[in-house]
Amino acid sequence: MKRISIAIDGLSASGKSTLAQGLAKALNYIYIDTGAMYRAVTLFALREKLIDHESNLNEEGMIMALPRIYLTFRFNPGTGKSEICLNGRNVEKEVRAHEVSRQVSVVSRLPEVREKLVIAQRRIGEAGGVVMDGRDIGTVVLPNAELKFFMTASIKARGERRHAELARRGRAIALDDVLSNLQERDRIDSTREHSPLTQAEDAIVIDNSDLSIEQQFDHMMSCAQQVLNA
Ligand code: DC
Repeated sequence: MKRISIAIDGLSASGKSTLAQGLAKALNYIYIDTGAMYRAVTLFALREKLIDHESNLNEEGMIMALPRIYLTFRFNPGTGKSEICLNGRNVEKEVRAHEVSRQVSVVSRLPEVREKLVIAQRRIGEAGGVVMDGRDIGTVVLPNAELKFFMTASIKARGERRHAELARRGRAIALDDVLSNLQERDRIDSTREHSPLTQAEDAIVIDNSDLSIEQQFDHMMSCAQQVLNA
């Protein structure tokens, strides 16, 4: 059985990671959450005070610090997810903090940051048998991926999902704050100069505003089966 690469791109909180994880599990592939990598670099920048509350990034300091950032994934059999480790420490929980979400787009638009992470992502993706999600996977990281999806949903659906997810983790963030964070990230992620979020020409678009996770999963699995059987 051939092992393909599946690229899933899309807007923030469009449900990419839930579906990517589900597909990876069903196909027995590895799942790589590239957003977690950008979030871990952002966490490092916050800890090193390279970024302030007004989102001013010390770009030179960030670039100088890049060789001190070592990212790996560790599989957690309890959650079935590969969790992000920053310099050997599992930071899966910390990278989901609202402060990291607030600052991540500013860090991830720096070309030097992208270059470092894209090299690592390509190395993981080259061998196939991978589901990778992010913003530039189908266009830049794995342009030859055999199957590409572009996921989108209304801002209302995405805001409500992210709000509920934060609440489940005990983080009471007002819905308005979640919505404005998503809108601001959409704006920066889509308009930045390097590797903006764009839909690959050969991507299958999934607008999941009104689709259940099961409906999306079934559709995406049948697309994967078609490619695998071709
Ligand atoms: O998928 P996420 O919301 O966890 O991603 C966090 C941020 O990382 C997102 O706002 C933009 C950035 N990102 C990126 O620039 N390129 C990727 N491939 C993945 C994420």
